[in-house]
Amino acid sequence: MRKKLIAGNWKMNLNAKMAEQFTKLMKETVNTDTADVVFCVPFVHLGMVKSILAGTNIKVGAQNMHYASNGAYTGEISGQMLASMEIPYVIIGHSERREYFKESDTEVNLKALTALKEGLTPIICIGETSKQRKSGRTFSVVRKQLAFAIDEMTAEDITKIIVAYEPVWAIGTGETATKEQAEEVCALIRDEIKASHGQTAADNVRILYGGSVSPENANELFSMPNIDGGLVGGASIKSTFEKVVNFE
Ligand code: PGA
Repeated sequence: MRKKLIAGNWKMNLNAKMAEQFTKLMKETVNTDTADVVFCVPFVHLGMVKSILAGTNIKVGAQNMHYASNGAYTGEISGQMLASMEIPYVIIGHSERREYFKESDTEVNLKALTALKEGLTPIICIGETSKQRKSGRTFSVVRKQLAFAIDEMTAEDITKIIVAYEPVWAIGTGETATKEQAEEVCALIRDEIKASHGQTAADNVRILYGGSVSPENANELFSMPNIDGGLVGGASIKSTFEKVVNFE
């Protein structure tokens, strides 16, 4: 039985004071009995958020990392640095990084492999644009992104990753995928993993849905058989986030 996981993606939001206050509020209100909860916060807040949440079951994650361990990459943060801070999760290949920072499928794969090597859990994002969906290419795009992302991973590696299906057209738009649309693609991802890495890997890998998840739609989305939780942007920095986590 896969445990649900709800990951908040704060993106580039909240200054230090706001992050501190919000984390303290979340510490009081979020109940982690039924789902694993992760806050993926800006790099500069990782240490503070982690120390406020010490003693709770809420985990902290980063939103990106470089694939090299160290070196002359001004402005970058490595997986090794995150691991040394005992940050267990890292989002890889978010569509905003693919679009605005031109991250390629190859880089996504390198980052995910490095994250695993460092003992981090990569939350690997894949998903089609509106244009791709309208032209009937959703399945082929998702298949291709997935194949690239998990290239060279073993079946054991697969049980340690998290895949987030995030249709680009649903991110930050308020236009959520229907539960059927989200389930269909999450099921496809599981089938692809079964074909490439076997039944056990497919049974164990957690597949999230992301894109305008809110307290109103969390229950119907997360109740689908192949959706193991969500990657939540806008709704994760609102006081009502606990309603997304405790969606039942
Ligand atoms: P959203 O963002 O919930 O604001 O649509 C999701 C994401 O970008 O991960």
